[in-house]
Amino acid sequence: MLVSKINEVKEQIKSWRGQTIGLVPTMGALHDGHKSLIDASAKMCDKTVVSIFVNPTQFGPKEDFDKYPRNLDTDLEICRQAGADLVFAPEVNEMYAECPAVTIVPPRQYTNILCGKLRPGHFDGVCTVVTKLFNIVRPDFAFFGEKDRQQLIIIKKMTADLNIPVQIIACPIVRAENGLALSSRNKYLKVPDAPLYKTLFDIKMCYNDGMTDIKTLSKGVSGANGLEYLEFRDKDDLSLKEIADDNTVVFAAVKIDGVRLIDNMELG
Ligand code: PAJ
Repeated sequence: MLVSKINEVKEQIKSWRGQTIGLVPTMGALHDGHKSLIDASAKMCDKTVVSIFVNPTQFGPKEDFDKYPRNLDTDLEICRQAGADLVFAPEVNEMYAECPAVTIVPPRQYTNILCGKLRPGHFDGVCTVVTKLFNIVRPDFAFFGEKDRQQLIIIKKMTADLNIPVQIIACPIVRAENGLALSSRNKYLKVPDAPLYKTLFDIKMCYNDGMTDIKTLSKGVSGANGLEYLEFRDKDDLSLKEIADDNTVVFAAVKIDGVRLIDNMELG
């Protein structure tokens, strides 16, 4: 079922009292990565709500808010197939009626690194809209992909610090056959290549062979074409690692054909 008003969501949720509710927040243009989150929720929870909302507050002025892919009909079909019980697809003025509005600001050491460094204010927008969705749906569980691991870690921290009564469930990255992490922006690529996956996979193999020195592990990669960052960070608090260990995640971003691709891999 599709609804676009906050009150309609609340009514529906009320009628489900006593049942566990899973929330899968998305911006639409759904693919198998999103579908895996909906599948996980449908398996774990009595009822699954998918939100589809291209959130303007997490896009910078020069980013692709206007041309972000939108195709509600296809999305609804994917939600139906994956077993979603309710799809919430609000208009911008339904979510942001008040202006100016209160914003959630996560700690800067979590947000001014990696993707946040290149996208100031991005995670404030993400945390604000996710908090609003949590308060509208009041889910027992909320599902986020490891594809956007910085986002996942920040949302976990926000929910813990603000005592939001929801359990965050992390879902593994879904990849194409060649390793390319599925993303709504992949359709802008001229060639669906997977340079990041190969790089991250090689690093993991070297780590498995006993190499822990980060300079040695990233040798030969730092100068790669279009590379925006390659960083070794802690998987819980995102602090920089000097020596790789089982709690290390390698984060990377490249720009190809004007498209930013991100990926990450746990070494442990
Ligand atoms: P969006 O980019 O649509 O992603 C929605 C969810 O799908 C996120 O949790 C993301 O990590 C997950 N996802 C995307 N591609 C994936 C893949 N290949 N494998 C596994 N999970 C994948 O992330 C957002 O939207 C927004 O920032 C949002 C949280 C909805 C707030 O507006």
